[in-house]
Amino acid sequence: MGVSGVGKTTVATGLAAELGWPYAEGDDFHPEANVAKMAAGVPLTDEDRWPWLRRIGAWMSAEIAAGRSAVVTCSALRRSYRDLLRESRPEVVFCHLTANPDVMGERVSHRTDHYMPSSLLPSQLATLEPLQPDEPGFEVPAQGDASVVIAHALDALRDRL
Ligand SMILES: Nc1ncnc2c1ncn2[C@@H]1O[C@H](COP(=O)(O)OP(=O)(O)O)[C@@H](O)[C@H]1O
Ligand SMILES: [Mg+2]
Repeated sequence: MGVSGVGKTTVATGLAAELGWPYAEGDDFHPEANVAKMAAGVPLTDEDRWPWLRRIGAWMSAEIAAGRSAVVTCSALRRSYRDLLRESRPEVVFCHLTANPDVMGERVSHRTDHYMPSSLLPSQLATLEPLQPDEPGFEVPAQGDASVVIAHALDALRDRL
């Protein structure tokens, strides 16, 4: 979890490769209408998000039913979104990638392979609700080299396995 540009895809890909777990990109679960909105720089509403989050949840449930651990990226900015992802899935552990806004703005502005414009970053940061103490998960600072961030996330995750 974390705002756009913080490194979710990068870190999740690294974790999945290290652990040999299946990986899904949360962005790929968006309905077309959501992608069009984001590409136009229009922030999504909660009504836009529920179907997306339910599709991610369904993917996680399928992995759990198959007896596998897996990695999925999802900004999961609000507690209510995370509660939906966790509902009837007690296995879920959140890894919140945190970085300062300057670093994130810089990364997003250099990105050409993604529909999320950097103009959405302030709204992402305003929406973000960090993990609360009763939520399963941990924070990993996403500053520094990607390999360092991945190693840090791996350590924190292995402590929970
Ligand atoms: N630790 C890092 N250091 C430098 N650049 C990074 C790091 N992590 C990710 N990036 C780059 O920043 C951009 C956003 O990363 P990405 O993983 O796509 O973020 P997200 O999936 O959270 O939107 C990409 O161009 C990626 O290559
Ligand atoms: Mg991503």
